[in-house]
Amino acid sequence: MWISKLAFLALAFTQLGLAAPADELNKKFARDDNGLQKVVTWDKYSLSINGERLMIWSGEVHPWRLPVTGLWLDIMEKVKALGFNTISFYAHWGLVEYERGKFDFDGYRSYKPFFDAARKAGIYLIARPGPYINAETAGGGFPGWGTRVEVPWRSGNQSYFDAIEGYVKTIGKIVAEEQITKGGQIILVQPENEFSASKGIPWPQTKYMEVLQDWFREVGITVPMIENDVNVYLKNYVPGSGEGQVDIYGYDGYPQGFDCANPHTWVDGKLPTDWFQRQLEAAPTSPNSVVEFQGGAFDPWGGPSYEACSVLVNHEFERVFYKNLLSFSTNIFNVYMIFGGTNWGGLAFPGVYTSYDYGSAINEFRGVTREKYSELKLQANFLAVSPFYTTSKPQNLVPNTIKGAFTDNTDLAVTHVKDEVGGKTSMYVIRHAVYNSLSKSSYKWSANTSKGNFTVPRLGGSLTLDGRDSKIHVVDYPIGARNILYSTGEIFTWKTFGSKTVVVLYGSPGETHETSFLTTKATKVQQLTGTASFTSKLENGISTINYQTTGKSVLSLDGGNLIVYIMSRNEAYRLWAPTLSGVSKKSRTDTGVIIHGTYLVRGASIDGSTLKIRGDLNGTDTIEVFAPASIKDVTYNNRRLNLQKTKYGSFTGKIDFKAPALNLPVLKDLKWKSTNSLPEINSNYDDSAWPAAGKKTTTNPRKLTTPTSLYASDYGFHTGNHLFRGHFKATGKETAFSLTVQGGNAFGFSVWLNQEFLGSFYGYDAGQAANKTFSIKTKAGDNVITVLQDNQGLNEDWTAGTDDFKAPRGILAYSLIGSSSPITWKLTGNLGGENCADKARGCYNEGGLFIERQGLHLPGAPTAGWKDASPLDGISNAGVEFYKTDFKLNIPKGYDIPLAFEFQNCTQNANFRAQIYVNGYQFGKYANNVGPQTSFPVPEGILNHRGDNSLGVSLWAMDKAGAKLCGLDLKAKLVAETSYGSVAPSEQPKWVKRKGAY
Ligand code: GAL
Repeated sequence: MWISKLAFLALAFTQLGLAAPADELNKKFARDDNGLQKVVTWDKYSLSINGERLMIWSGEVHPWRLPVTGLWLDIMEKVKALGFNTISFYAHWGLVEYERGKFDFDGYRSYKPFFDAARKAGIYLIARPGPYINAETAGGGFPGWGTRVEVPWRSGNQSYFDAIEGYVKTIGKIVAEEQITKGGQIILVQPENEFSASKGIPWPQTKYMEVLQDWFREVGITVPMIENDVNVYLKNYVPGSGEGQVDIYGYDGYPQGFDCANPHTWVDGKLPTDWFQRQLEAAPTSPNSVVEFQGGAFDPWGGPSYEACSVLVNHEFERVFYKNLLSFSTNIFNVYMIFGGTNWGGLAFPGVYTSYDYGSAINEFRGVTREKYSELKLQANFLAVSPFYTTSKPQNLVPNTIKGAFTDNTDLAVTHVKDEVGGKTSMYVIRHAVYNSLSKSSYKWSANTSKGNFTVPRLGGSLTLDGRDSKIHVVDYPIGARNILYSTGEIFTWKTFGSKTVVVLYGSPGETHETSFLTTKATKVQQLTGTASFTSKLENGISTINYQTTGKSVLSLDGGNLIVYIMSRNEAYRLWAPTLSGVSKKSRTDTGVIIHGTYLVRGASIDGSTLKIRGDLNGTDTIEVFAPASIKDVTYNNRRLNLQKTKYGSFTGKIDFKAPALNLPVLKDLKWKSTNSLPEINSNYDDSAWPAAGKKTTTNPRKLTTPTSLYASDYGFHTGNHLFRGHFKATGKETAFSLTVQGGNAFGFSVWLNQEFLGSFYGYDAGQAANKTFSIKTKAGDNVITVLQDNQGLNEDWTAGTDDFKAPRGILAYSLIGSSSPITWKLTGNLGGENCADKARGCYNEGGLFIERQGLHLPGAPTAGWKDASPLDGISNAGVEFYKTDFKLNIPKGYDIPLAFEFQNCTQNANFRAQIYVNGYQFGKYANNVGPQTSFPVPEGILNHRGDNSLGVSLWAMDKAGAKLCGLDLKAKLVAETSYGSVAPSEQPKWVKRKGAY
């Protein structure tokens, strides 16, 4: 449509004798179509959607890291329950164009169920389709075939454009269809990712950014484009900078870094203090937008594990760092990751292992028990009912330089954030000036209110701030028809129910707080429940309460029309404020409910005089509900509750939890079958069907140091295990064989000469390539060397121009010492390479092990003739053995019981690796000698919770003494009653004999 407008204008210009400034018109009209300017607009404060300002609080989720479309809504409901309104997602190019020119958006690769779930949950989406995404995934999202496209990637080179065009336009169309302008949920699109620096090519690469956006526009994307700059210092492609500029400048930050090994260390000086000024300099006309901010950390092979990362970036980090970002009026705020998921198959880049839990608020098995989930819920719910924030700006820009302002304690730094448009509301964000201080500080706060300046607390005691804590105090804060004059107790939420207002205030356990309300009636403050001590004062329409935040207490003010629910932060963690419909911020205060209790509240709806709550329960609980006056009954997961009405108008009711009987199979007791998965070292093995590794040249930036290329990607193999077979005629003079193999961090390799095992490189966390020399004894005539290696995924390509993702996997160099006999090589990876055999599970799922090439890891594979042996028996020689068993699960309906396969670490014969295949999906890559991961969650939908399951385990023993598993168990990670409903399984096609499999 816009093209015709363009054409019309071009004509008009021509008639006037003027040259049409085509580029400008293009830009202008590309976005006038569909009335974009009315739908998603922005100014220096915030984004508006359909004219309504909204603070975008978003969490990052990668659907492809949870390949069960039926669980996407579960994640979205858990994000929504935080009080967030948006989810940001990367689309993964390599996953959908594994073979150049062939797109596959089937099954879990389809974004449609993700969009549908967002619509259902009432969650907006930020689309980040790349083509480069980084994301700790193989190649940073670049497809393996890209390693053979010669020019520097992420640049304005034509061959690179040719490579990306198909993907950009295809994913662009998919995104375009789901824009808010078309009734979808997508409000922003981010082209590229951290496109902020180059090496070896000129900088900035404006043409690339320009063409990329032109193509997205051409296929119909009309919503604003946002940048994710490496950090605010670089200021690339800011609005108004010309070619390549985006609409809204944004940046990211990971101030705590990724050192999960020292999870309690907060390095000095890491709290950003100047991001607001930097943003102002970079893009004064758009909102302060932090497109990624640290929500956890990734953990490398051999790392301290994700529980440590969840401590590094924990609830205290959220308090200090997130509130600090809030003090900069960050009105677009995306937490990376909110749910990490799993690097199943070959999705990981070499820097991470199977789990991508990330230490996030929602853990890998979708549990919400981390304290950081609850803390985030407190903060996001406050922002959701604080519209003033969307027109606010910080008033004092460098808090550290004005230590002691707004309080009497020079150890504290305070940022004053004020509504500059709508009214007089302010918030003061208090923290320690030395941000990582562990001391507890007392202070009095100077509250500058519309009724004068007060030194708070006025009614006695003093305020305190714990080490690694931060607080938000508000001033002139409206709660419906009433106003809070000031409050040091933090607001969780407030709602109006007819003439009544309920506000929930919380603080650290045992603290003194003070809140002053502008009230209409100067009636006595009454304590309706709870034991927390309080004092109060009534004066000229101001009612002040001074209280302790312990337990739960309810005070009644303003003749019973103002209910103040006071609680300790730990009690507040149990609060939920679901919207009754839609995502509009108005509905959060006008038609919402407040619920205290149960593990999770997913949503609530009103049906006549019944409030229906949908939630999850992990123990018997008492729930308390504030609801509109029309409500007489409450159901929880369709169970009518026996309600008591409280003096102050809420309902309480007990909900019984019945722990279900769980009969999980004991894996070691199952009937297992096993088969050799390294027939390649048998004397009669025939590799005639293998691809020859005969390419004498390579387009790879790394020059060949072998007569023919032994880079797996040159032959279309990019994932899983690779095998090489090198044939030579012995002269009898060979004394040793030396080789250098590259596979990425923690990879390993094993080498055989004929049937004789030569040895292995066991791998270690940082080892990306390794050289080994083995003494050999050849036999007269034909000899064959077999090399088995891991490919830990292609590198990322973080710095444009480095082409780091092309770093080869395979044999970089070799020599046959003592002889000049040439070696003729063959190689294999997964069957079919880029045209992989199993399109349902996708091309990252399987590698080149014999059993994988044959599809024997799939359900229903024939095991006739296999041995009776389990992985706990293992093998007593170096090699690869594959084990298989089937079991049934009968997990009771109506429960969320995520399961995980758990290995026990072996200290004897420790050098081995194992992969687990669940109904054909490779959901775990265990490296016993590297670690750290031993527990591998597998989601429902990959596991059939009520039905048949097939489990495969490959065991690669890297030592001549062999190896066995020391323990493998199936464990429940959580038992919760859920309202979520059943989860449809992902496609699980069964084994069929594969044509041409070798
Ligand atoms: C960012 C990047 C993300 C992810 C993150 C670390 O720099 O944009 O894709 O890699 O770092 O987890």
